[in-house]
Amino acid sequence: MNNNAIVELIDIKKSFGSQQVLRGVNLRIMEGKTTVIVGGSGQGKSLIIKHILGLITPDSGRALVYGKELNRISKKELKDIRTNFGVLFQNSALFDSMTVYDNVALPLRERTMITEDETGRIVNEKLKMMDVEGTNNKYPAQLSGGMKKRVGLARALVLDPKIVFFDEPTTGLDAAKSNEIYRVFSRTQQKLGYTSVIVSHDVPKIFKLADYVALLHNGVVRDCLTPDEFQLSDDPVIKDYVETTMGPLYSSEMEV
Ligand SMILES: Nc1ncnc2c1ncn2[C@@H]1O[C@H](COP(=O)(O)OP(=O)(O)OP(=O)(O)O)[C@@H](O)[C@H]1O
Ligand SMILES: [Mg+2]
Repeated sequence: MNNNAIVELIDIKKSFGSQQVLRGVNLRIMEGKTTVIVGGSGQGKSLIIKHILGLITPDSGRALVYGKELNRISKKELKDIRTNFGVLFQNSALFDSMTVYDNVALPLRERTMITEDETGRIVNEKLKMMDVEGTNNKYPAQLSGGMKKRVGLARALVLDPKIVFFDEPTTGLDAAKSNEIYRVFSRTQQKLGYTSVIVSHDVPKIFKLADYVALLHNGVVRDCLTPDEFQLSDDPVIKDYVETTMGPLYSSEMEV
């Protein structure tokens, strides 16, 4: 673990038609740490992730991953950088027509030349890690919401990524299932040591996992702070966010 920023967003601006969504976003993602992006619906949290993945080009500003500016590198270089990424999109996005096994095996089949035996070994290992072993031959429609998320996580981690993006990994799950997902996260992160970027509305629960919390508000990252600093911040916008999401008496020691 060190203090290197492996992702850096510098003054990113992005509009759609007359709608200015990102108005100068600055954010650094530190290696080996968990950064949680919070903020209201429609503020542009998913859009920030898409900029880091190089799926969207900013109108202005720079998105750097491992020091390389994404819109100044070749397609081949971008592809190489993306091999470091594991992504769980907002809706888990499993392919309905494919079994759990085939869904999780897909990145291995697309990106590596390993044998089917080796693929099977890795898929089973990741499914076990997520506590969904034995679901290999099921289709997504036969799984509960929580199981789908776990399979999505298994797929996001199947290439042993260096940096993972989880966009609202617990949406639609009840409190117990959300807790389970977060437990699995922390367990796998401890084991695999990846850097993670999580978009979440699960405040304050998510603070237990976070090393840093970044609040996106009116098109800018107001600040990126440790959970304790965040809760004690004097910034009126952060204060207001903390009070509306946690209530004025929240303490970080409180069990959630
Ligand atoms: N490709 C696109 N074309 C047009 N508008 C877009 C596009 N992508 C995002 N937007 C707009 O940008 C804004 C931010 O979208 P985004 O999905 O990033 O929000 P969010 O913060 O992730 O919200 P939520 O918490 O609801 O997921 C929204 O108003 C959305 O309609
Ligand atoms: Mg979103």
